[in-house]
Amino acid sequence: MRPYIICHMGTSIDGRLHPSRFTSAAAGISPAVLRGHYEKVHDSFGADGWLVGRKTMSEMAKGSERTIANAAKVPREPHVANRNSRKLAITIDPSGRVHYGKDNVGGDHVVTILGEQVSDAYLAELREDGVSYIFAGAKGDDLASAMSELATIFGVRKLLLEGGGRINGAFLKHKLIDEFSTLIHPAVDGVAGTQTIVDYDGPEGDRPGAGQALRLISCETLEGGMVWLRHAVERL
Ligand SMILES: NC(=O)c1ccc[n+]([C@@H]2O[C@H](COP(=O)([O-])OP(=O)(O)OC[C@H]3O[C@@H](n4cnc5c(N)ncnc54)[C@H](OP(=O)(O)O)[C@@H]3O)[C@@H](O)[C@H]2O)c1
Repeated sequence: MRPYIICHMGTSIDGRLHPSRFTSAAAGISPAVLRGHYEKVHDSFGADGWLVGRKTMSEMAKGSERTIANAAKVPREPHVANRNSRKLAITIDPSGRVHYGKDNVGGDHVVTILGEQVSDAYLAELREDGVSYIFAGAKGDDLASAMSELATIFGVRKLLLEGGGRINGAFLKHKLIDEFSTLIHPAVDGVAGTQTIVDYDGPEGDRPGAGQALRLISCETLEGGMVWLRHAVERL
């Protein structure tokens, strides 16, 4: 059993990832209204938590690296800290690169998914910070087992996958996305090579979406001309 996973992203009409690069709102359209849709739709799903890639989480977590001398050697077993009924802020950080300094991001309790290769000192830092952790195999790449553990250990039933493009691409490749929720800004980026909302980083010729098809569930126009698409992912 694993959570139902919705990939929820905002994008330009050319599928790009960074809103700071998009064209400005047209005359009479409130940029604040456009920006506000993302969190409103996020909240409307009533998910148990959200998950982002290591790079995206590095931009959100505000801690700095600490040296913990003589950290005890601990078995690579899940560590459940004090969640306190909060929603979960989850990342996949195979090498243990993100530093938190506290047990939450934006009020949501941090759960990090690690490779077993991380150091005992890093695990000690996480425990000091009150962060929960689980493991996704030796290299931190067993995404399917990590998703099952989120369900069994933390009771996650519905999860929002919120970028960046690389982690979204990895989830697509592993057939772990059940639905796409895409907010299309009335804007364009336009530059070749700019990151997109699904940016699988795999071998040449690989097709991460192979064996899957998208079916439109709904299409809604929101205030300011934002278009909200929902697609179910069907396995072929
Ligand atoms: N629409 C938006 O506004 C929006 C939303 C989300 C993110 N973003 C932006 O997206 C940018 C980051 O996107 P990104 O695509 O470069 O990075 P990302 O998806 O946030 O993180 C990628 C990292 O995740 C880790 N990872 C774990 N398992 C992986 C797997 N199976 N496959 C690939 N990576 C895996 C790797 O960490 P290691 O390198 O440590 O191995 C990898 O480098 C940021 O600038 C962020 O601000 C924008």
